[in-house]
Amino acid sequence: MPDTHVVILAAGKGTRMKSAGPKVLHHAAGVSLIEHVFRAADALRPSTTVVVVGHLSDRVTGALSTRLGLRFALQEPQLGTGHALLQAEPHLAGKSGTVVLLSGDVPLLRSATLQALVEVHRTRGAAATVLTARVDRPEGYGRIVRDDTQGGQGRIAAIVEDKDATPAQRGIDEINSGIYAFALEPLFAALRSIGTANAQGEYYLPDLVRIFRERGLVVETVSLDDPREILGVNSRRELADVTAILKARRNEALMAAGVTLVDPDSAWIGPDVTVGADTVIHPNVYLEGRTRIGAGCEIHAGVRIVDSAIDDGAVVNNFCVIRESHVGPGAQIGPFAHIRPQSDVGEGAHVGNFTELKKTTLGKGSKANHLSYLGDATIGEKVNIGAGTITCNYDGTHKHQTVIEDGAFIGSDSQLVAPVRVGKGAYVAAGSSIVEDVPPGALGIARGKQVNKTGWVGKKKKQ
Ligand code: UD1
Ligand code: CA
Repeated sequence: MPDTHVVILAAGKGTRMKSAGPKVLHHAAGVSLIEHVFRAADALRPSTTVVVVGHLSDRVTGALSTRLGLRFALQEPQLGTGHALLQAEPHLAGKSGTVVLLSGDVPLLRSATLQALVEVHRTRGAAATVLTARVDRPEGYGRIVRDDTQGGQGRIAAIVEDKDATPAQRGIDEINSGIYAFALEPLFAALRSIGTANAQGEYYLPDLVRIFRERGLVVETVSLDDPREILGVNSRRELADVTAILKARRNEALMAAGVTLVDPDSAWIGPDVTVGADTVIHPNVYLEGRTRIGAGCEIHAGVRIVDSAIDDGAVVNNFCVIRESHVGPGAQIGPFAHIRPQSDVGEGAHVGNFTELKKTTLGKGSKANHLSYLGDATIGEKVNIGAGTITCNYDGTHKHQTVIEDGAFIGSDSQLVAPVRVGKGAYVAAGSSIVEDVPPGALGIARGKQVNKTGWVGKKKKQ
C-alpha cells in the first residue's frame, strides 16, 4: 500500500520470560517471534520499517542485520510505549501516510487483519484506528472506553490501562490489542503531549486516543473475530501456547493441500518447509528451515530434517537426522541414519541403519545398508558398501577424499584410508585396510593371511 510505515516495538525487558536473551528472538514454530511479525507486516509493503530496540539492543539488531532496509531506533531508558514510538520519529521525518504500530511479541497476527485495519483507517480518514477484541479474560489489558452515545457503546473515547481502571472499567471486556494505525501528520506532536500521571509513571501510547478525541479528530476501532490473533508472548507458558496455535494453523494448511499427517499434534513443520501431496508424515517428525519434501514420500516417526531436499517417493525410516543434504527420488534412508551436510543420496539408493554420511555423494542405486561411516567420499552408481565399511578421511590434521567408482563392491568391515580410489567394478575383500588405489576390475585384499593350525585345540586342552 502507498506510504505505509511500520514501527515494531521491541525495547521492553520481557521480565517474565526469565531469559538471558531478548524476548522477541525466542522461537515459535520455527522462526523468531519478531520474524512472524515481519511476515505479517510484509503484506502491507511498507516503505519504511523501524524496530524500536532497547533492552539487549545489540543482540536484537545483530540478529536482524540480514533483513535489508530495516531501520533501528534506540529507546534508552524505556519509559513506556508512547516514549518508544517517539524514538522512531527521525526515521519518519518528512514522510506522510500511515504508521502501523506493532509489537515484536505478537506472532499470531495475520496479514489480512493488518490490511483490514489500514483499509478502515484510510477510508474513514482517521487520526488513529485501534485494533480491539472482546475477550473472556480482559485482566491486564488496556480497556476500550466508549462514549455515552448508543447506550455507552458509542465511539471510542479513551483506553484505560488495567492498573488505572476503575472497578466499573475493569468490567469492560473489549481490550486494546496494542496494534494501531496512525495518520503520520498529527502523530508526533500529539505523542509529545502525553504525560506520565498514571499508575505506572509511564508514557502511555494509548493516551493518544483521548488526546485525538479531545482535538476533534477521528478515532476508529477495528474488532477482531478471533481474539487469539493478538495473543502476546510474555512468559514461557504463552510461548508454548502460541507455538501450538502456529503449528495447528500450518498443519491444517498442509492437510488441505493433500499431505497426510498421521498425528497433526506431533508434526512440527516449519513455515518455510514445503511438502508435496500424498506424502505421509508420521508422529514426532521435525521438518525445519528451508526443507523441501517431494510428493509421495513417507517420513517415519522420530525423523528430523533440516534445510534439505527430499525428492518424490523417498522413504525416510524411523529416527534419522538429515541436514543440508539432498535425497534423490525413491531413495531409502534409515532407520537410524545420520546424513550430515553436503551429502547427496542418489535416485533409488539405500542408506541403512547406523550409517553416517558427511560431504558424501552416494550414486544412483548404490547401497550402504549397515553400520558405515562415509565421509568426504564420492561414490558412483550401483556400488555396494558392505557392513561396517569406514572411510578413514581424517589424518589428525587434514581431511582426504575417497573415490569409489561405479559398480565397485566393498567387502564388509573394510577401511578405506584416504586419499584413496577404488576403480570401476573393483572388489575390496572383506576386512581389508586399503591404503593404495585399487585399479578398475581388480580385487584389493589387504588383511592378515589366515593360518589354520590343525589339531591345536586338542593339544591346548591336554596341557
Ligand atoms: C500494552 C498497552 C495495553 C494493551 C496491551 C496489549 C500501553 C501502555 N498499554 O500494555 O493497552 O492492552 O499492550 O498487549 O501501551 N515497549 C517498548 N518500550 C517501552 C515499553 C514497552 O518498546 O518503554 C514494548 C514492549 O517491548 C512490547 C510492547 O511495547 O513489545 C508492549 O509493551 P508492554 O509492556 O508489554 O505493554 P502492556 O503492559 O502489555
Ligand atoms: Ca504485553
